[in-house]
Amino acid sequence: MARLAKGRASRTARITAAMRYRHLLGGVRPLVFEDRFAHLFLDLPSAVVAVPSPLGDRALGQLLGPVRGFEGEVLARSRYVEEALGPRLAAGLGQVIVLGAGFDSTALHHPDARCRFFEVDHPATQAEKRAILARQPGLGANLVFVPVDFAHDDLAESLLQAGFDARRPALVSWLGVTMYLPQQVTVATLVTLRRILAPGSVLIFDAYPRREETVLEEQPMFAAARALTALQGEPMVGAFHAAAFARAIEGKGWRIADLMKGEAMRKRWFGAQPRVLWPPRSVSFYTLEVV
Ligand SMILES: C[S@@+](CC[C@H](N)C(=O)[O-])C[C@H]1O[C@@H](n2cnc3c(N)ncnc32)[C@H](O)[C@@H]1O
Repeated sequence: MARLAKGRASRTARITAAMRYRHLLGGVRPLVFEDRFAHLFLDLPSAVVAVPSPLGDRALGQLLGPVRGFEGEVLARSRYVEEALGPRLAAGLGQVIVLGAGFDSTALHHPDARCRFFEVDHPATQAEKRAILARQPGLGANLVFVPVDFAHDDLAESLLQAGFDARRPALVSWLGVTMYLPQQVTVATLVTLRRILAPGSVLIFDAYPRREETVLEEQPMFAAARALTALQGEPMVGAFHAAAFARAIEGKGWRIADLMKGEAMRKRWFGAQPRVLWPPRSVSFYTLEVV
């Protein structure tokens, strides 16, 4: 990603934090997801967009109304992880990996010291998060930062060096990243991670489909999202091919345990939410289990 290569924190990570904060402040109750820490990570432009106001709402409606389903998807994916994580933490899960963490605050919501959260991210984004948390005494004591550039570094080796225990199960949360990667990089990352994940581990990620698998009426909004992210210097590739993915992971130690599409997300979490926030039908959440 051009922006990260220049040593600057991910802009898309900041935008997704702003979406979560906006929902916390002005979202219709019951909320899809409550991010009580997103505000820590906003800069001035993202804070202006995040704070609901009549003018901001109007501008957002006119400019971004057609793509706000992605805002719904950002909320839904965090909810999906939270629903998988809660019971596992209660059952004593000791390790979580947050891949491409950005300004995700899962670790901050679960300060229980019995679980360590390994946050893996590009050094440019991670440095900024570390600096922000360093100014918040008491926050992030359960967090282990693992700076990794997926394009150059060995992810498994970096995690082991940071103290990840390959003998104990883990939950891996990988949100908002595969849409920026060629599919072979997604599969290669799964193969690498599988080397250090014990039986009982699960991995969750979200995926945006390639054009041929996108519902026809949603094609313009995906095209707009690709254009908007390209403007931020972090272009979405938009290449996920579901059938090829299922074939590619066969025999590699993974099983698809759950595949949730946008329609099911709407039914499960968005009954009270305005239609503009409903996640696109074409997005998918995957839960993979180690076999
Ligand atoms: C859209 S953000 C998602 C952030 C967060 N997971 C969320 O859902 O809000 C994409 C994240 O992927 C990270 N990323 C992108 N390319 C990367 C690379 N080559 N190596 C490591 N991290 C990368 C960025 O730093 C950023 O934090």
